[in-house]
Amino acid sequence: MSNDGVNAGRRRFLVAATSVVGAAGAVGAAIPFVGSWYPSAKAKAAGAPVKVNVGKIEPGQQMVAEWRGQPVFIMRRTEAILGNLARIEEQLADADSRKSVQPAYVDPKTRSIKPEILLLVGLCTHLGCAPSFRPEVAPADLGENWVGGYFCPCHGSRYDLAGRVYKSQPAPLNLPVPPHTYESADVIIIGVDQEQAG
Ligand code: FES
Repeated sequence: MSNDGVNAGRRRFLVAATSVVGAAGAVGAAIPFVGSWYPSAKAKAAGAPVKVNVGKIEPGQQMVAEWRGQPVFIMRRTEAILGNLARIEEQLADADSRKSVQPAYVDPKTRSIKPEILLLVGLCTHLGCAPSFRPEVAPADLGENWVGGYFCPCHGSRYDLAGRVYKSQPAPLNLPVPPHTYESADVIIIGVDQEQAG
């Protein structure tokens, strides 16, 4: 008889102890979730759209912005450069960017909203090195057939001035075009899609 009393007391103790552990566990588990529910200001800034004024980029030159921790090349192309894009299509792996990453609202060949302004994520599609901007024609180190483009120094992948990769390169795809839109004639917002007509 007295055993029942002991056992009942022990059961109450175990229940009470378990509840305390359970409560402590719940507090411990809640801490990481608070982090995910309320992303830090730094995390928010890292994923936020970026506004860039492209008005001062000279024809044939580029600037580099940063969006989501990645370099974004922004180039102003000339008529001569745009003319070359059509001329070298035979040498490209994916001239119409069918397999490559780009928003539906950019032209498949110039890979831009306005022909003269090109935006590319500046990370090689092979292993992620930053390709060099090499707009000059036929420089000694790249050969007489080079009409200007991006050259990856890591393993030699070559891209044209629409970020389209040449055939038989280590890189499998064109450089990605990030989502972007024009806020005004010279101001682009990277990370926001252009509203599509219709
Ligand atoms: S990372 Fe660019 S060619 Fe390998």
